[in-house]
Amino acid sequence: MIYGERIRLRALEEEDLPLFVRWLNDPEVRQGLVIYLPLSHTEEKKWFTGLAQRPADERPLMIEIRQGEGWLPIGDIGLQAIEWRARSAEVGILIGEKSYWGQGYGSEAMRLMLKHAFDTLNLNRVFLRVYAHNPRAIRAYEKVGFVHEGRMRQARYHAGEYFDVLLMSVLRSEWQAA
Ligand SMILES: CC(C)(COP(=O)(O)OP(=O)(O)OC[C@H]1O[C@@H](n2cnc3c(N)ncnc32)[C@H](O)[C@@H]1OP(=O)(O)O)[C@@H](O)C(=O)NCCC(=O)NCCS
Repeated sequence: MIYGERIRLRALEEEDLPLFVRWLNDPEVRQGLVIYLPLSHTEEKKWFTGLAQRPADERPLMIEIRQGEGWLPIGDIGLQAIEWRARSAEVGILIGEKSYWGQGYGSEAMRLMLKHAFDTLNLNRVFLRVYAHNPRAIRAYEKVGFVHEGRMRQARYHAGEYFDVLLMSVLRSEWQAA
């Protein structure tokens, strides 16, 4: 487990899959994500089976918050496309339980993942892509220290419109200075 103040990150289990199916079939949740088609349990199971083939450092982790004596899963976070020579990786996050949006859990999970990326994996750069029409996500990333570094114009097509995709990153030196 990777423990933060209010959350912990743990490995994903097959029993978590129904949660993902529920979260990812919610159009409001999906709006900020690449996925745009309804998702079946069978497809989700296939995705989960495929995770075992990925490098261990690129497997997503469940985000859990304290609930009474136990822990409640509310989303997941993970690194991908790790380039060990450049020591760079992309991060992705999903808080699927909408009732927990806007309570600081996303930014706390991101801080914890950055600490893991820099202090455990010894990476130098963590970047992400976020849709320009996702102000909650952008604000959460800015709070954590992500810097705007680029804009891919009209790179996203959603609900009949084109949207820009923003690139944001944090360098290890910036993280340490903060
Ligand atoms: C994006 C996401 C991870 C953020 O997590 P979160 O726990 O909701 O975010 P936080 O509470 O840490 O921070 C959100 C910030 O955005 C602000 N915010 C919320 N709605 C906003 C809006 N419409 N405009 C501007 N700021 C907004 C909040 O007030 C908060 O800032 P504050 O702490 O200064 O008040 C989460 O909402 C989520 O997973 N959404 C669905 C999937 C998704 O979009 N993933 C991201 C893909 S790049």
